[in-house]
Amino acid sequence: MRTMLPTASLAHISVQRVSGNAAHQVLSKDDFDAAEKEITAWEGYEPTPLFSLSKLAQQIGVYKVLYKHEGPRFGLGSFKALGGAYAALRVLQRQVSQRRGQGVSIADVRNGIYSDDCANITLVSATDGNHGRSLAWGCRRFGSPCRIYIHAEVSEARAKIMRDYGAEVIRIAGNYDASVALAKYEAQQNDWFVVSDTSWEGYIDPPRDVMAGYGVMTREICNALPVAPSHVFLQGGVGGMAAGVIAGLVQHYGADSPRVVIVEPELAACLFESAQQGTATTVEIKKETIMAGLSCGEPSALAWEILKQEASDYLTIPDSLVAPTVRLLARPLIGDPEIQAGESAVAGLSALIAAREDSALSLSLGLDAASRVLLIGSEGVTDSEIYQQILDERIAL
Ligand SMILES: Cc1ncc(COP(=O)(O)O)c(C=O)c1O
Repeated sequence: MRTMLPTASLAHISVQRVSGNAAHQVLSKDDFDAAEKEITAWEGYEPTPLFSLSKLAQQIGVYKVLYKHEGPRFGLGSFKALGGAYAALRVLQRQVSQRRGQGVSIADVRNGIYSDDCANITLVSATDGNHGRSLAWGCRRFGSPCRIYIHAEVSEARAKIMRDYGAEVIRIAGNYDASVALAKYEAQQNDWFVVSDTSWEGYIDPPRDVMAGYGVMTREICNALPVAPSHVFLQGGVGGMAAGVIAGLVQHYGADSPRVVIVEPELAACLFESAQQGTATTVEIKKETIMAGLSCGEPSALAWEILKQEASDYLTIPDSLVAPTVRLLARPLIGDPEIQAGESAVAGLSALIAAREDSALSLSLGLDAASRVLLIGSEGVTDSEIYQQILDERIAL
């Protein structure tokens, strides 16, 4: 096989899964049904493409590579469009109900029936870009003030897009985890509402709604695939995307659900570390990874409940694989579609290709010529300057 990526050694652990029912209980079928009913009613909703990269599959010696391309999602550039905006709407629904002392419907909140109430409910969150974009977009749609906390390394282009959606963007000197802490603190001081994609002790509802929103993407995949994939490679930041997708797959495919491989940057491997320790574990981010969306040091408590039961393998990848994989999708093998993918989108594909170039790793992951591998291309071009640098090979690693 021709080598497609620079040589890299990937850290890998296989773990004994904890038994339990979290994929049905932490996120129920009802949670996913409600999110699907609401989000598919939004103006501009369209399923995103699920590409079969058949030439690439041939090249790396698997039966299928299925790539769900989230670039076009609601014009926001990533799957995160599904989570933050939906969770924002749910917070507004709960708050308006409480303030008025009566149940209000989510559709009425969406349609502006309570716009005066919504104008007085400030929603806040930390982000490394995509979640904040979704929240800012949602707040503009639903008429609420929005404050977004970003860390020192979030690109100015990503900050500007959130400002353009009307959010006040607060940049801090520290890292992502520090921005989460500040958002939490200032919300407490000011009676604002945190709409976070990550959960911690006692903070459950918005991150659950965020993951339920991601379920729309999984439902589209399941509708398109009568036969379950054998593997799914899921890149992790705090783990919410992985947990949301896994719960949807388990609920749909049951015992045929794919083997779950979690992929993280080696610079931000909190899920890998958690798997190694057998408990949710925080790691210190010493240097920012190019995979900005995955630069998280603290796992989501709620997501970890699902991951510890459903994920069997954890991998870390070096940053050096990212730019070549982005270019591989932009300039594909003849016959495969051209895909514009962002840095965090390609982590799963990078790991898959690297694993196929390492026979021992392939063996331990159970990858072979019959494997049908599902990948989530979680973002398109969310920072066009960085994307162009990658295409022009101007990104130094
Ligand atoms: C493009 C992209 N992919 C994947 C992820 C990972 O999602 P999570 O933090 O829920 O694990 C993120 C998170 O921001 C992201 O922006």
